[in-house]
Amino acid sequence: MKNDLSRREFLQRTAGATGAFAASHRIFLQPEHIPLPLESTPPSERVRFGIIGIGMQGSGLLTNAIQLPGVECVAAADLWDGRHELAQEIVGSKIPTTRRYKELLDNKEIDCIVAAVPDHWHKQVVVDAVNAGKDIYCEKPMSHSAADGVAMVAAAKKTGRIVQIGSQRVSSVICAKAKELLANGIIGTITLVEGTYGRNDPTGAWEYPPPPGLSPSNFDWDTWQGEATKRPWDPDMSPKYFARWRCWKEYGTGLAGDLLVHLVSGMNFMLGWNDPPRRALALGNILRFKDGRNMPDVHATLFDYGEDRPPVYLRLNLGCDTPETYRFQGSHGILEVTEFNITYFPQSGVDEGPSYYTYGFPREMREAYFKKWHEEHDPKPGKEPVTEGYNFHGASWDEEKPHLWKYFQAVKSRQPVVEDAVFGNNAALACHMANESYFRKAAVTWDAATSTIKS
Ligand SMILES: NC(=O)c1ccc[n+]([C@@H]2O[C@H](COP(=O)([O-])OP(=O)(O)OC[C@H]3O[C@@H](n4cnc5c(N)ncnc54)[C@H](O)[C@@H]3O)[C@@H](O)[C@H]2O)c1
Repeated sequence: MKNDLSRREFLQRTAGATGAFAASHRIFLQPEHIPLPLESTPPSERVRFGIIGIGMQGSGLLTNAIQLPGVECVAAADLWDGRHELAQEIVGSKIPTTRRYKELLDNKEIDCIVAAVPDHWHKQVVVDAVNAGKDIYCEKPMSHSAADGVAMVAAAKKTGRIVQIGSQRVSSVICAKAKELLANGIIGTITLVEGTYGRNDPTGAWEYPPPPGLSPSNFDWDTWQGEATKRPWDPDMSPKYFARWRCWKEYGTGLAGDLLVHLVSGMNFMLGWNDPPRRALALGNILRFKDGRNMPDVHATLFDYGEDRPPVYLRLNLGCDTPETYRFQGSHGILEVTEFNITYFPQSGVDEGPSYYTYGFPREMREAYFKKWHEEHDPKPGKEPVTEGYNFHGASWDEEKPHLWKYFQAVKSRQPVVEDAVFGNNAALACHMANESYFRKAAVTWDAATSTIKS
């Protein structure tokens, strides 16, 4: 995200400090190989895409996508005319623009779609796109509700089109390396998964400035509201809904859909999981940004992913800045994963000295125990266990180009993508469960038989 620069800088600085303990064990990860754009890609080999939604995220996706080799944007749709102008500025030519995204779906010159519309429009855009025979890259969270996600998975399966959801860390070198390390058992038996992220500024809490002059003459307010209860245009509130839709459940999915979904998608990818949680219990509140929003600004959720899996505890906070971090904890130590770094803090998982319980033995008994313990456990010279950790450093897990590149390659090759509708739905369901648990003030479960969230 473009507004992440200060956070990134902060992360880079703290990442250096974290890695210092193991400076001699720092390993640099090769970035994903993406060929340079070749001006000479013949038209028959180009992927021609249309973009729907050219807002904060769509403008970044568009900028990145057109830098990829053989990828071309040929049309743009948005409900605010200002974003038609923006799309043309980014592409650098007068590509056709429209307020009606279905014109892009009907256009036979367009191979595939990239969509970055607010969450409450994801289902309709994806279902319409695949039914029209178009592949689609749709932003995260995949759905606005559990029911929407079920409908999207069904549409993707029925049509066989490629659907890739936009949690870009799934295509990052950081998460790929962490996945490999975890699969190789670096931390032994995984006993707990912890993830946190916090921000502490109005922009981080979605108090974005509405565009000056936004009005029904340049913006289709009625269509923008989608299936939400229709409100008449209100010159004070409507521009706020437009810019700050994440704050309201009618349009957005709050912290869960904005940030938790990244944590969950990355976690599922790194652990090789691809199912919804069985149970979720969330606590939250609106403590810092009492600006009329109805979604919490602090949200902590415990997830149960099944009997043989570790508890998962994921915490989001818009009222205190903390770097986004996973801590995979296990019998052989901690694997800490952040935007640029993976750090392994080893633990032996065995007694490294005689048991302190024996201080409750009388002296003679204790000394005999100590002697025997040392004879049996002290490492032989040269055979001391390795206790130093190490650190991998790589490109940001937030970079969108590798994820977009995987999508456009799949459009060409027809090979499946990792973050398909099923994967996207399983991650989104965790977020819907976190929200349902917060609103119902109760633990919730996922009932696969009825595809519903129950208390
Ligand atoms: N992957 C990431 O890191 C990341 C980062 C930010 C946002 N996002 C996701 O991207 C999506 C968009 O977020 P944003 O911040 O760019 O929102 P935004 O409000 O800035 O932009 C959305 C645009 O979609 C347009 N739009 C809405 N409904 C439409 C419709 N029916 N037809 C055509 N255009 C329509 C709006 O007019 C607006 O210009 C969200 O789902 C968000 O969660 C992902």
